[in-house]
Amino acid sequence: MIGILFVTYYNQAKRHGGTPMEATFRAATTLMRPLLMMSLSAGIGLLPAAVSTGIGSEVQRPLATVVVGGGGETTRGAILNMWYLLLQHPDQAGRVLADESLWDMVFHETLRHSTPIGGQPRHNSFDIVMHGQHVPAGSLMNMVDVSANHDERIFKDPETFDVFRPDLYSGKLLRSGYSNQGRHSHMAFGVGPHLCPGAWIAHQEATIGSRVLSRRMKNPRIRVDMMPKDIDGVSLAPLGLASVRELWLEYDLA
Ligand code: HEM
Repeated sequence: MIGILFVTYYNQAKRHGGTPMEATFRAATTLMRPLLMMSLSAGIGLLPAAVSTGIGSEVQRPLATVVVGGGGETTRGAILNMWYLLLQHPDQAGRVLADESLWDMVFHETLRHSTPIGGQPRHNSFDIVMHGQHVPAGSLMNMVDVSANHDERIFKDPETFDVFRPDLYSGKLLRSGYSNQGRHSHMAFGVGPHLCPGAWIAHQEATIGSRVLSRRMKNPRIRVDMMPKDIDGVSLAPLGLASVRELWLEYDLA
């Protein structure tokens, strides 16, 4: 079944004029969603789920690349940033470390404040007028997630890291986004048909992992002196767009 789907997606992509390589990756990306559902419902890893369908290595390889490329630095950076930002706000950290249920809000506020991916390029398929500007069909547009997440018309004091901000929605991720009674989704996972299919996995990795860590580490403190620096020798070395490359913590044993 997965093999048939792959060939269908591959042929569709080829008809749109892509190279064989592009068509392969496009098909693998599209397949991610049914495979993720299968792996989540069966409680097995994504690649074992793919292998269990009998698909060949020509599909497994691009699939592995999409998974590793898609979920590698973004999730790692998000976890590092969650702790880095939180521990710089001792009042908020105190509340979160005393109540594990608050890690969900830390995850979403971190992604809003320090969005790991800058944006997504798109070609608009029809003429549109945005903010009084006519954009002809076929133009190259870039949706800048970071900017949307710091739009002061949507989020009050957007530069402020506040896990308890009342204007941020941190419930179940919706493909169409959420905006209701003054609460809004952040854009760190994109929005619409290409909303990150790994968003829920990233959420689970980051929040469950942080809960486990918080039980083991008492009184965690950031050791900036041990963290790698950027070329100016002062600022912290980045990972991707807005994450710290490494986070060194000192803590007491629980
Ligand atoms: C905090 C972690 C993550 C962030 C911030 C993130 C962010 C994003 C964003 C912004 C997009 C583009 C959405 C669009 O084009 O509209 C995307 C797409 C994608 N992500 Fe993630 N992602 C994360 C984790 C993951 C994980 C864990 C996986 C896989 C297990 C993954 C797999 C993918 C794939 C396959 C796509 C392409 C989807 C498509 O084009 O339909 N991501 N992600």
